[in-house]
Amino acid sequence: MKQRTFTGTRTQKMQAYEIAHREVAREAAQEGLVLLKNENQLLPLDLSKPVALYGAGAGKTIKGGTGSGDVNERYSVSIYEGMKQAGFQITTGNWIGDFAERYAAAREAWKAAIWSDADREGYELFDAYARHQFEMPAGRLPEAYEAERTDTAVYVLSRIAGEARDRREQGGDYYLSPEEEKIIEEICRLFRHVVLILNVGGPVDLSFTDSFENLEAILMVSQPGCEGGNAVADVLAGNRTPSGRLTDTWAFHYADYPNAQTFSHRNNDVETERYEEGIYVGYRYFDTFGIPVRYGFGYGLSYTDFEIAFHGISHYDLGTEHPEIGVTVRVKNTGSRKGKEVVQVYVSCPQDGLEKEYQRLAGFAKTRELEPGETQELEIRFPVYGLTSYHEEVPGWVLEQGWYGVAVGNSLMDAAVCAGIYMTDHMVMVKTGNICPLQKSLEEKKAPAEEIARRRQVWLDHVEERPSLILSPKDMKEQEIVYGTEYEKLPKKAMEFVEQLTLEQQIRLVTGDIGQDQGGNLGSAGMYVPGTAAQTSGCAMEQDLAVLSLADGPAGLRLTKDYCVADGKIIQEPFEKSIEGGFLSRGTGERTGEIYYQYCTAFPVGTALAQTWNTALLQKVGRAVAEEMQIFQVTLWLAPGMNIHRNPLCGRNFEYFSEDPLLSGKMAAAITEGVQSEKGCGTTIKHFACNNQEDNRMGSDSVVSERTLREIYLKGFEIAVKEAKPMSIMTSYNLINGVHAANNHDICTKVARNEWDFQGVIMTDWTTTHWGEDCTAAGCMRAGNDLVMPGILQDHENIRRELEAGTLEQKDLKKSVCRLVDTVWNSNMYE
Ligand code: BGC
Repeated sequence: MKQRTFTGTRTQKMQAYEIAHREVAREAAQEGLVLLKNENQLLPLDLSKPVALYGAGAGKTIKGGTGSGDVNERYSVSIYEGMKQAGFQITTGNWIGDFAERYAAAREAWKAAIWSDADREGYELFDAYARHQFEMPAGRLPEAYEAERTDTAVYVLSRIAGEARDRREQGGDYYLSPEEEKIIEEICRLFRHVVLILNVGGPVDLSFTDSFENLEAILMVSQPGCEGGNAVADVLAGNRTPSGRLTDTWAFHYADYPNAQTFSHRNNDVETERYEEGIYVGYRYFDTFGIPVRYGFGYGLSYTDFEIAFHGISHYDLGTEHPEIGVTVRVKNTGSRKGKEVVQVYVSCPQDGLEKEYQRLAGFAKTRELEPGETQELEIRFPVYGLTSYHEEVPGWVLEQGWYGVAVGNSLMDAAVCAGIYMTDHMVMVKTGNICPLQKSLEEKKAPAEEIARRRQVWLDHVEERPSLILSPKDMKEQEIVYGTEYEKLPKKAMEFVEQLTLEQQIRLVTGDIGQDQGGNLGSAGMYVPGTAAQTSGCAMEQDLAVLSLADGPAGLRLTKDYCVADGKIIQEPFEKSIEGGFLSRGTGERTGEIYYQYCTAFPVGTALAQTWNTALLQKVGRAVAEEMQIFQVTLWLAPGMNIHRNPLCGRNFEYFSEDPLLSGKMAAAITEGVQSEKGCGTTIKHFACNNQEDNRMGSDSVVSERTLREIYLKGFEIAVKEAKPMSIMTSYNLINGVHAANNHDICTKVARNEWDFQGVIMTDWTTTHWGEDCTAAGCMRAGNDLVMPGILQDHENIRRELEAGTLEQKDLKKSVCRLVDTVWNSNMYE
């Protein structure tokens, strides 16, 4: 077992890893920027011309979200700083200075409101924090003299969100605030050319952009991490060609989203969330139902042009359990700047059996940076299994008979059918059992069958003229899931070790280390490494079982920036120190003892990372995070977050990748591969599953059909588990069809372990078991959820009681301890 040392440095000097990782963060931010509009080729801007820069995010660029999705970085480069460093002359230094004062005042007022709730109203600090989402002030109106030296203005619109609270369909959030409206109006009146930068975690209403002809360019920069300002400047100056693509549909109006009126608080019912749109989430809805959108899935412009030529379709590994399709394309840069292109393959599946979305993303790839005139050939491979749908009555994954249209393009809207796959007969590829039966009524949306048939007919009429593949059930191997195998699969050596532990040790090992405050802290209960969310129990250290530290993500490692050591011991600090970079602390700032500094890199948020559509880049980000995990003695990163963007108002969407399960799964797999390439480090894919809203996140019941659950909400997890074997999974707070996710045997054991062969540890989200008898520590063990985090004494008592009563079997407790022991043994806590 490795000896623990105090983590971090005694000096404030910038470390080599920080410099290297800021470069990775900058590259990821650059590639995640999406150019949405660029009329008259306004961008890139001419560096020799001054620019007027406005908006909350100009000087106070939002690098990421709040709560556990935050990172306490050393410093972040704002767009203002980035632009100045790139050589832009900014004429609005005064405006930005004035804004900084308003911002500081607003922050103080916000802090006071939070503490007032905590002190006077009796809220826990975390709840008070969650109640008060910080709203950026708008700033003052621009003045005429600011337009004297330039005809070009850039306006940065910013939004911030975070856990425990959904966004609101109101001014200052989904819409502009009245003050923002006035400022933008005035800017568009004063300047000839206006660039809008969206420094937001997810969609905002962009109707206002239609009112101004001179609002010529829109750049979605998302929440781009600590190097965001530099990355934005790189693209504005034309040093980089934008190559990001949207991972969500941006509707014309909020009301266009299929669950607009019922989502979360919208129908005044945060208890029951009916997933009535079924599988029609995101583009699957808009595309299938023919609803026009402002910016579609996969969309994004470039400074150069590309030609994508379809080159062929083939199959691989027929006759095995994992046959694949390969689509070859040649991408040529036909423009005059170097750049990267994203090629997307969509498949339209037959509609004669189960009704379906009109098309789905089946695969994608990004080119390298191509010089003007240069061509690259790409083969995009995807499993035939990716073309199946889930049939609840079979039950299993079925591949239906008929034509599958294969479309290729650089966005969903531009993809054109260029090949076909004909399946001669219907087949069940994977036979499963049913899971998560509905307990409440649910009526799912029905697709417009005639309209879909009409659209399919357009290419079906010519399908014989195009290259095609013919597949028959003989080419595939049917798989049948055997349930109940989880006991046989337990690692033997670890089980022998478990048998030598006392019952008390076993009970303690399935919760986090319960420290001085009984571990009740949300997200900062780790004691060895300050700011870590929790650590595993040290009760078997004498038997050489190490303690693992777990730290949040997903935008980097979340630790406290500094801490004190006195008399050889870490001074444990309150929760407030671990959030908002310590801004909420009320101490005097005076400290005794030796100070240690822990600077971690803030990478772009999950959505921004996914907008790169670049899996190799996500692996690189993962490797950088893992290097920091090694430096700070962290074993498990509580990331990536991979819930589906079901509605744009979900408060945590920025942490997650996309509305599409394939893209989410691929991104999670890539970042996991990166992290786990560092021996002994692991990811924790979360929140498993259907954690799609934040209001009442611990009590809301996701009412969802089995098919939708499997095809949309579990699919990304399935891909990540099968492709990258993450070290762990975190269950979610919500219920799924009446059963808490943390106590849900169907998803933890039947699905993750029996169907996907997941071998790692499953843990709860923080404090899931604190709120009553519906979700208990013993319930976790029964479900196959191994680790209750961060753990309280009540969890131990509950397990003891249920063991005595016989409602919890010893073998279920041991099974969880065994998996934890195996994970600890394989961790970076040993030489
Ligand atoms: C969040 C998790 C996070 C955990 C630990 C919870 O509030 O939902 O995503 O990993 O806290 O900080």
